[in-house]
Amino acid sequence: ISKIAVLTSGGDAPGMNPCIRAVVRTAIFNGLQVVGVRQGYQGLIDNNMFDMNNRSVSNILNLGGTILKTARCLPFRSEEGMEIAYNNIKAQGIDALVVIGGDGTFTGALRFSKKYPDIAVMGVPGTIDNDLYGSTYTLGFDTATNTVVDAIDKIRDTADAHDRLFFIEVMGRDSGAIALRAGISCGAEAILLPERATAIDNLIENLKKGRDNKKSSSIVIVAEGDKSGGVYDVAEAVKKQVKLYDIKVTVLGHLQRGGSPSAFDRILGSRMGFAAVNALIAGKSRMMVGLEANHIKLTDLEEALTQHSFKLEEDLMQMAEILSI
Ligand code: F6P
Repeated sequence: ISKIAVLTSGGDAPGMNPCIRAVVRTAIFNGLQVVGVRQGYQGLIDNNMFDMNNRSVSNILNLGGTILKTARCLPFRSEEGMEIAYNNIKAQGIDALVVIGGDGTFTGALRFSKKYPDIAVMGVPGTIDNDLYGSTYTLGFDTATNTVVDAIDKIRDTADAHDRLFFIEVMGRDSGAIALRAGISCGAEAILLPERATAIDNLIENLKKGRDNKKSSSIVIVAEGDKSGGVYDVAEAVKKQVKLYDIKVTVLGHLQRGGSPSAFDRILGSRMGFAAVNALIAGKSRMMVGLEANHIKLTDLEEALTQHSFKLEEDLMQMAEILSI
């Protein structure tokens, strides 16, 4: 290969910029040319690309978001969209792509790679949701979890001051990874997760017990993918039966996606970007770079997608319940 394009796609995640920096500098170190693609797959279709050099990625390690911008691109799902993208890629003399994103991004990359196998493709898992098979951690998950912990600690202060019960919705799509880790970190009284059914009666019982045990405030974290009807419905159902607390709802929303990446995500992004380019140079394609047991591991992109359902650790779920008594 002689020319690599790099793009970020889907929801942005802190750590994408350190990864872009690593891709650019590793490629240049190895004598390759690098092109940055703006707005994910949309930029391939619109031919919105620019040459990058070592200085294009100066002072971005600490930046949240993505300097390449990102998009969820519908046209790339069509045969025509992919063909336009392919023609633009060929016209630029690009022979390899590094795509940083989540499962939607990889689905696009896999389809494109099957249709146009002459373009090598390497995926880097960048999503706060931590829901990809083949990597214990995805880029942005650590920073997002810390952001959530910081926000919930602040809510705990006011909850405690007023003796209130808060229901807090956190992101993660179908994954409860952020909810579980933030719940353990903040000592949440309950964590509602998409990975297990929630018995509202039990929740009410436990909240009442907590009050009887002299708890002055309570925090219930509700993962956005939880199937009990959403944070407002759950709060409403509890409100009908728990009269001892004043109940409030907070939806943390997109603040969870922003912010300067943690040291963990800066290092992870650097390692993954470095590994992605080295794998392409070694002739690999249609794979995802991941981190398992602190070692970089490559997983077949198809396998990463078919094994997609991420399992939360049972032991952590149990521990969270016991420790919140
Ligand atoms: O995948 C990342 C994520 O932040 C999810 O946690 C959330 O469900 C979704 O993206 C929100 O997407 P959007 O920013 O398009 O509203």
